[in-house]
Amino acid sequence: MSELREARTLSLFVAGVLVGCLVATCGYALVERGRNTSARDGAVVLKLGHSLDTAHPVHLAMERMAESLAQKSGGALRLLIAPNGQLGSETDCIELLQNGALALTKTSSAPLEAFVPEMALFGVPYVFRSEEHFWRVAEGPLGDELLAAGETAGLVGLCWYDAGARSFYTKKTPVQSPGDLAGLKIRVQNSQTALRMVEALGGSPTPLTFGELYTGLQQGLVDGAENNPPSFHSSRHFEVCKEYSLDEHTRVPDVLLVSRIWWDRLDEQQREWLREAALESAEWQRTEWRRRTEEALAAVEEAGVTVRRPDTAAFAEKVAPMHASYEGTPIGDLMRRVRETE
Ligand code: GCU
Repeated sequence: MSELREARTLSLFVAGVLVGCLVATCGYALVERGRNTSARDGAVVLKLGHSLDTAHPVHLAMERMAESLAQKSGGALRLLIAPNGQLGSETDCIELLQNGALALTKTSSAPLEAFVPEMALFGVPYVFRSEEHFWRVAEGPLGDELLAAGETAGLVGLCWYDAGARSFYTKKTPVQSPGDLAGLKIRVQNSQTALRMVEALGGSPTPLTFGELYTGLQQGLVDGAENNPPSFHSSRHFEVCKEYSLDEHTRVPDVLLVSRIWWDRLDEQQREWLREAALESAEWQRTEWRRRTEEALAAVEEAGVTVRRPDTAAFAEKVAPMHASYEGTPIGDLMRRVRETE
């Protein structure tokens, strides 16, 4: 057996043991494929899969949600969180929601665009004027429409989590202008819009899942990637990438989704608890995000990363043809509504 296979077998074994312990300590009886997932004491257990690690502020927000849900329901409705991509990539988890094998997932809205095409709006670079502008859209009627847009695809949107702005990081090439991306293989999320964005800026996009990225960077499969500071920090990609350029090209929020199949099984009261707990956790996460972003930037600098603040105008100019290409399309209409939001 090769070293790689041995390591993989071992990590699968460790993951299996960990999930086993989690299930055992919580006293849950996870019935086949989650269909009848219920605790021994008759409580309904909702399993939530996502790809971030447990130090990430979005994971912490969902832990709070689990606590609040247990409290509101007196333990009758519980959330069991499987982090770190244990249940598969973000795309895998969305598919599991569609067939009811998983109750909830927290995904970036980027891979969601393959299921809910309207989500591509967030992948268009420099479509929001500022962080405040982004939130006026996300918290306004357009944000609500987008959360509801997945229902026909079997996906009920509960809330947005702040995922800040995404910027490029590379192993060693400083990215001070789009020209510096030439010839660099940049990892992108599983999203056509992300692919087009990196191409428009002059880099070579390479799709990889988040879970594959650390090794992909280490082994030189890609020269860099892009993400917000808390994710760059908590994923430890900064150990391999020593250049981070805050060009803030996109604001791609995270979104909490429930499987339509599970949603329909819950009664009104259970849905209400779920909605309230989700919204409260999102509110907490938003108040934390700015501080966590600053802390992440300080921590990566401390670890030897050069953080640059390039002139974003040069990047925005480069994507003008990409913006123009959406004219007359549904995404073009959504972009217009974003522009018109004060
Ligand atoms: C962000 C986002 C994750 C996503 C990741 C990625 O960190 O919060 O949900 O997986 O970006 O780049 O894939």
